[in-house]
Amino acid sequence: MLTGTRGSNACFQIQDAARTPGNVARDSRRPIASPNPVSTTERAASPEDDALEDTMFSIFSDETEPPAEWRKVVIGLAAITFGVVAQSIDGPSGLQSVAPLFYVAGMLPAAGTNGGNRLSASAVLCAMLAFASISLRSFADGVELLAAWGTIVISACLISAHQRVGVRLETAAAELEHQARRFKQTFDLSPVALLEQDFTEIVEHLHAIKASGVVDLAKYARDNPSFGPECARRISTRAVNQAAVEMLGAASPNELLGGLHRFIPEDASLFIEALQALMDGRERYEGLARLRGPRGDVSTAYVAIRFPIKRGGVARVIVGMIDVTERQRMLSELREAQAALTAAKRFSEMGALSATITHELSQPIAGMMMNAQTSLRWLREKGDIRSAVDSLERVLRDARRARDILEFTRSRLSGDTGTQADDVDVESLVKEVAQIMQDELRAANVRLEVSMEHGSGEISGPRVELQQVLVNLVSNALQALRDADAARRRIQLKTSSDGRGAITFTVADCGPGIPESVADRLFAPLFTTRPDGMGMGLSIAKNAVERRGGRIRAYNLLDGAVFEFTLPALGASHELVSQEAAS
Ligand SMILES: Nc1ncnc2c1ncn2[C@@H]1O[C@H](COP(=O)(O)OP(=O)(O)OP(=O)(O)O)[C@@H](O)[C@H]1O
Ligand SMILES: [Mg+2]
Repeated sequence: MLTGTRGSNACFQIQDAARTPGNVARDSRRPIASPNPVSTTERAASPEDDALEDTMFSIFSDETEPPAEWRKVVIGLAAITFGVVAQSIDGPSGLQSVAPLFYVAGMLPAAGTNGGNRLSASAVLCAMLAFASISLRSFADGVELLAAWGTIVISACLISAHQRVGVRLETAAAELEHQARRFKQTFDLSPVALLEQDFTEIVEHLHAIKASGVVDLAKYARDNPSFGPECARRISTRAVNQAAVEMLGAASPNELLGGLHRFIPEDASLFIEALQALMDGRERYEGLARLRGPRGDVSTAYVAIRFPIKRGGVARVIVGMIDVTERQRMLSELREAQAALTAAKRFSEMGALSATITHELSQPIAGMMMNAQTSLRWLREKGDIRSAVDSLERVLRDARRARDILEFTRSRLSGDTGTQADDVDVESLVKEVAQIMQDELRAANVRLEVSMEHGSGEISGPRVELQQVLVNLVSNALQALRDADAARRRIQLKTSSDGRGAITFTVADCGPGIPESVADRLFAPLFTTRPDGMGMGLSIAKNAVERRGGRIRAYNLLDGAVFEFTLPALGASHELVSQEAAS
């Protein structure tokens, strides 16, 4: 049977309920080594336990034990002796008023044997003896005999009822014992680190702190550096399981028992958070905690605490902890890796940007150099100032374009893409591109045939970017015609409208066409088949077109390659272009 006990050493020990009954376990005030080798639950001896009471405590403590066999025999003999003495007094002596006392005295030790059957046997014996003496003494008086028998029967009924209650009590006690054993096993064998702690003092302490007007414990702890350790000292660990021992790297459970202050690291902020929850009257706290084990290793644990509900009396809590040190380390490594990845991505973006700038500026710079040389030649060799001025104007035009490209790039880098959105007239755009490419076309002896089927229209976008798309496609066509016959040295630049708001630009050449083997990689950055190519022209064009809600594609005709992109006309919806491109 499990009952509560108060004793200097009996504080909250989880005893092995399955131990052998007998003298060894008789004194629950003495520490009892558990026969279960897995059990690591330990008792913490503490004088203040004298004042403690609680339910759990009573479950785990076991004071009253069934008597030993020899004691039962002695008690049985004593009961019979009392019965015989009672009968002898009751019968011949006439001291009838004393007799019941002896009967009762005879039954009491029997009841003390804690066995229902012995009590019954004793009662029956006493009843028989009483019956015999009453019958002998009062045979003549029928009424008195009847009353005496009635008394005996009623007493027997009461004794029987008492016995049934006793049996029920025993059953309940056995069930309680079973549950306590199960709880103990669960506590000991749980893979979750469990600490059983006494919060009695800290509850009182926080109550006093709150009553003094403190609301924010984190601030209070900053102003009073000793607050954290003081509070930790007021929490006493009474029992721990094996998982807790392993988690905190202790040599034995004993190392973890007692004041918690030894295990709170210098940065007690997480501990203060838990205290705040307790002070605020929250029922539970779940969160991270940091604990320093006896060897000085600091572990990070996810803790779950259900706080004691009432103030006063014993405030015992079970603290569950899952070691997340490794997980936290991995998380921090992951964060570092992510930061490194972001940096690497940034570097790669910068690399791509450098490639873009290099690609886009190389064309106007080449133009500037060519026109500057031409201008010099006009001046030096022929003294033709007018032609020199024309060439210099082209240098200026290319310089402006280079500046526009740089400005556009800078605004994109700063995320300011809106400032450069122009309403671009398609006709003027095509003419500008023809002018930009004029020198290169002439040098390569290639003819650019421009046709605009839809008349003039407008598209939205940074002019310089749209120019660049067309310049890249025409440059590629020029490259493709490098080895072409004179008759085939022509490029068609055509614009058309579908009448529903989509404007299509087509650049077709009479070169060798796109090899099938590279068709699916054409628009990938850095893909090139040219020894002096960067592989950026088509990738830049694709990005620019798609950023403006358009689509670009490439295919071969009998005569050569065709590159075609479609953009929404000013005011038209982007979906139109998507449908157009898909069809
Ligand atoms: N008109 C074309 N005819 C045939 N193949 C082409 C044509 N235009 C592009 N290509 C192919 O697509 C590849 C990629 O073109 P892209 O413009 O992206 O790079 P590139 O011209 O090689 O180099 P750069 O970065 O200097 O423009 C080319 O190397 C070429 O193989
Ligand atoms: Mg190119």
